[in-house]
Amino acid sequence: MSEIESLTQQFGIAGKLGFEMVGELAAARVTTPFATATIALQGAHVMTWQPAGQQPVIWVSKLAKYAPGKSIRGGAPVCWPWFGPHASDATFPGHGFARTVPWALVATKALPDGRVRLEFELTQTDATRAQWSHASVVRNTITVGEELEVELATTNTGKAPFQLGQALHTYFVVGDIRKATVAGLEGCEYLDKVGGGRPRQQGPVTFTQETDRIYLGTHGCCGILDPVMDRTILITSTGSRSTVVWNPWIAKAEKMGDFGPDGHLGMVCVETANAAEDVITLPAGETHRMTAQYRVVAARG
Ligand code: BG6
Repeated sequence: MSEIESLTQQFGIAGKLGFEMVGELAAARVTTPFATATIALQGAHVMTWQPAGQQPVIWVSKLAKYAPGKSIRGGAPVCWPWFGPHASDATFPGHGFARTVPWALVATKALPDGRVRLEFELTQTDATRAQWSHASVVRNTITVGEELEVELATTNTGKAPFQLGQALHTYFVVGDIRKATVAGLEGCEYLDKVGGGRPRQQGPVTFTQETDRIYLGTHGCCGILDPVMDRTILITSTGSRSTVVWNPWIAKAEKMGDFGPDGHLGMVCVETANAAEDVITLPAGETHRMTAQYRVVAARG
């Protein structure tokens, strides 16, 4: 039996949840009256989410690679168990290994209100343990409906505390990054990876060049205001203290090779995170839950 046949037999829900190959990756395809979505099992990675009657919300590069061990450029990559470069070993992958390894689907459910929920668990192997020796279980629960809800739950199953860095590194579609703004971070300090230093945000975030910032001590609600698409994407979160805002702009996108020409114009990453000095210390036996909810609000006509 193929992987797709066996996933369909074990987890499929007639008319709502099926499985297919996207490039070389097995993926779930969710269809509800409220929205459609596709989620790769590698990385438990949401690749698309489109609420009914709306344009796509999640950006994915036309040049994205869908292959084992490769990170997909776009969607909602899970950065875990560290964010950015590893603290002490530069040979370990940036943003952790979770986005490039297989996750097991452990449960799927059609909810009474019509939404569909999928629960994934990262499959630990000798290779992942070589980079992360702490006994732990991490689950990513994705609920597809008019809102997209993602919950990343990490349990410390060992005997000592550990430090956890993480992000839901979601790429959002915007009509034109030069006209989009991000509101809700006003007054927060940020680590500016482009300009350096630790300024405080004045007014909404605007984009005129490469932007790569970790906002610290953020409040759990921000929005991407998009006058070109005439909509706002609302992002609410719990269990998250940092918000990363990123657009590579022209030169960096070109260097990355998988953005496509002018790819940077149509996207922005607003990442629900615990990063830099906001990493979590997770005591033995405890679970940390970080959640993000995404919702589209159309601008008033
Ligand atoms: C952002 C980081 O979260 O991810 C950036 O703040 C980084 O510094 C970007 O360039 C993309 O990372 P990657 O590993 O997916 O190319």
